[in-house]
Amino acid sequence: MSAEWAPALERVAVARLTLVIGDTDTGKTTLVTWLANALSAGGESVGIVDADLGQSEIGPPTTIGAGRVARPVARLAEAEMVALHFVGSTSPLGHFSATVQGTRTMVDRARSAGVRRVFVDTCGLVAGDWGRALKQAKIRLLDPDLIVCLQRDGECEHILRACDAERGPGVLRLAVSRAGRRRTPEERRRHRERAFGAYFAAARPVTLDRSRVALRSPSPVAGADPTDATSLSADFEGVLVGLEDAAGETIGLGVIQGVDGDASGLTIDTPVVARDIAAVVVGHERYARSPAVAPYIP
Ligand SMILES: Nc1ncnc2c1ncn2[C@@H]1O[C@H](COP(=O)(O)OP(=O)(O)OP(=O)(O)O)[C@@H](O)[C@H]1O
Ligand SMILES: [Mg+2]
Repeated sequence: MSAEWAPALERVAVARLTLVIGDTDTGKTTLVTWLANALSAGGESVGIVDADLGQSEIGPPTTIGAGRVARPVARLAEAEMVALHFVGSTSPLGHFSATVQGTRTMVDRARSAGVRRVFVDTCGLVAGDWGRALKQAKIRLLDPDLIVCLQRDGECEHILRACDAERGPGVLRLAVSRAGRRRTPEERRRHRERAFGAYFAAARPVTLDRSRVALRSPSPVAGADPTDATSLSADFEGVLVGLEDAAGETIGLGVIQGVDGDASGLTIDTPVVARDIAAVVVGHERYARSPAVAPYIP
């Protein structure tokens, strides 16, 4: 694998920001892990932004995670966590602006943590108008020095066409390894379930005082504005939420368990310490924790 990817290593070694794009299962995450390990072995401090909301490695699904690789890791999940940004969905569809803005915020956070080289790993949505719109918006807002594109048959060319050869980012096209393996939708679902399960393993119910904790939607473009206390009803039970501290940093996730009759209290399951929570960001999906032990059914 090092022979195929050696040209990429030379290029990323001098790029401040590298965006890796490609269809699903083209080896984006494997490549980013290998490049980050190679740079860190050479003494470089490397930042990774995991902008894949579903098949997350850094941070739980529904978030964009920023991590730092200071020594070789077997998986990106082992990167030291720098910051988290809650988008509230396991898919970018319908949440493009929140995903792109959140990715930008996480790149900035990785840089302010002192890393010189940042990689952005992305989801596999590259096809059609949606794929082009999402990836071109990322290119515009992130302004990478280098785009590494893993493709089988020119499927990303419609995205790259917009990159101005003179002023735009450098583009490095790599062929997809035959050794790569495709994951079924069921395997992808299990990956998300496992990641959520691991995240919520230490969760317990905490009740937040609504007069002290702000409620808001993940982005200004989200649908109904949930900040109206009267709208907070039983309909919210099971909804995934992002939790922010007083500085507006995402500090974790929670699942709404119940709302007091007068909407003065909000109970959530979360591993986050209650006193640190200053705002609850209401996500777009529900999450049901599966019981650790299957119930006994006679
Ligand atoms: N060069 C390679 N050599 C051997 N195995 C590889 C290689 N590239 C990828 N793989 C394997 O192929 C599978 C898919 O790779 P990977 O998860 O890196 O793809 P991805 O593009 O990040 O997928 P997704 O779109 O789901 O994020 C993994 O099982 C990985 O171990
Ligand atoms: Mg991946």
